[in-house]
Amino acid sequence: MFDITMDGRTIAVEEGATLLDAARSAGIHIPTLCYLKNVSNIGSCRLCVVEVEGVSGLVSSCNTLAHPGMVVKTRSEAIDRARRTALQLIIAEHGLNSTQYCFSCTKNGSCELQDRCRELGVETSPFKITPASGEILDSNPFLTFNPSLCIRCQRCVGACNNAAGNHTLVSGKAGLRTTILAPFGRDWKSTNCESCGSCAAACPTGAITMKRRRAYRSWEIKKVRTTCPHCATGCQYDL
Ligand code: FES
Repeated sequence: MFDITMDGRTIAVEEGATLLDAARSAGIHIPTLCYLKNVSNIGSCRLCVVEVEGVSGLVSSCNTLAHPGMVVKTRSEAIDRARRTALQLIIAEHGLNSTQYCFSCTKNGSCELQDRCRELGVETSPFKITPASGEILDSNPFLTFNPSLCIRCQRCVGACNNAAGNHTLVSGKAGLRTTILAPFGRDWKSTNCESCGSCAAACPTGAITMKRRRAYRSWEIKKVRTTCPHCATGCQYDL
């Protein structure tokens, strides 16, 4: 264990912890979007940026390791502005500028992008970016992928590869042109996809959704611990 200073508080941090881990252990809130513990920490959304004394520019807290003696600030005018700009860039190409609107989205009410916009006071974007186009993949009986709602966080890829150990869902290209190759098209039966839904559970937006969600809204359900119906292993999960 060693100490760092965060927002003027001394915090004891475990070896190998990130600045985000340190903040969470101390009850300090830092907004995140692309990060999902043990699933993805690619640091693409830039919502979790913080200031570190002696470091020029802002650093993403989700994938920056804490070091002894670090002095970190999680709120300032510059940080708030950077987070809002990052969010405006994301929603500019999220499909909000096309025919997709939150109220008609299956994830309305349980969308992390919607939550972050509310939290950071972002309603519109001054940026004009063409949302990713591409066919909505809807052939899988359980899952749908809408590329125009994808924010390229790759949480779905991490969930398929790390959590589910399936390695079916992958990303193509890189940077701004990153695309998710979701196996839900017409040839879905020829893939290894087991329709386990880990990708949909990890997706922060309505890009990958379970079809059964269409019949209800998130506030109408209660999560229960149950057994996965896909194989005979008997894994328990929250559904
Ligand atoms: Fe850290 Fe997205 S949550 S960069």
